[in-house]
Amino acid sequence: MSTESSLPHDPLSVKLPLDKELVLKVIPMPADCNANGDIFGGWVMAQVDLAGSVIPARYAEGRMATVAVNEFIFKQPVRVGDILSFYSELTRIGRTSMTVKVEVYAERFHSQGRYIKVTEASVTYVAIDDAGQPRPVPPSSLPRPQ
Ligand SMILES: CC(C)(COP(=O)(O)OP(=O)(O)OC[C@H]1O[C@@H](n2cnc3c(N)ncnc32)[C@H](O)[C@@H]1OP(=O)(O)O)[C@@H](O)C(=O)NCCC(=O)NCCS
Repeated sequence: MSTESSLPHDPLSVKLPLDKELVLKVIPMPADCNANGDIFGGWVMAQVDLAGSVIPARYAEGRMATVAVNEFIFKQPVRVGDILSFYSELTRIGRTSMTVKVEVYAERFHSQGRYIKVTEASVTYVAIDDAGQPRPVPPSSLPRPQ
């Protein structure tokens, strides 16, 4: 996987992916915390759902719905004030569905420029018609996964 540089020293620090697209940046706030004081997993899942929809929306050209969370891994806790960067890539297009991989990287409050991978997920979206039924993903000039 191709990467770009990040600062060294922290053993959890990793390099950002160059083969995925930055689709969202957001900073969690105290209202997003669980009882431990870390960020609530459901809040992270909601952000991943939003971020993951960005690339499929280009292909669906209309309404779509999340049909499946195929995998969701919380690798490290997310904390208040982290700058979260969501990277995504299309991994599959079917007849009516599109699957993406989403990776989430945190810059800790006092360690901007060092990236820690906190979450990774695979999510599938379905193009739907006005009645909420699956419809074929339209032919597109955009590149598709092999
Ligand atoms: C999305 C929805 C319209 C699909 O309807 P459906 O009757 O299951 O449709 P199908 O069985 O024809 O499947 C449609 C596509 O989804 C895929 N799919 C269905 N279930 C899946 C699953 N569990 N995992 C991965 N893909 C799945 C199918 O493979 C198919 O893809 P393809 O056409 O590219 O081969 C329907 O399930 C729905 O409305 N779900 C609720 C969506 C929603 O509200 N999401 C927000 C959650 S709060």
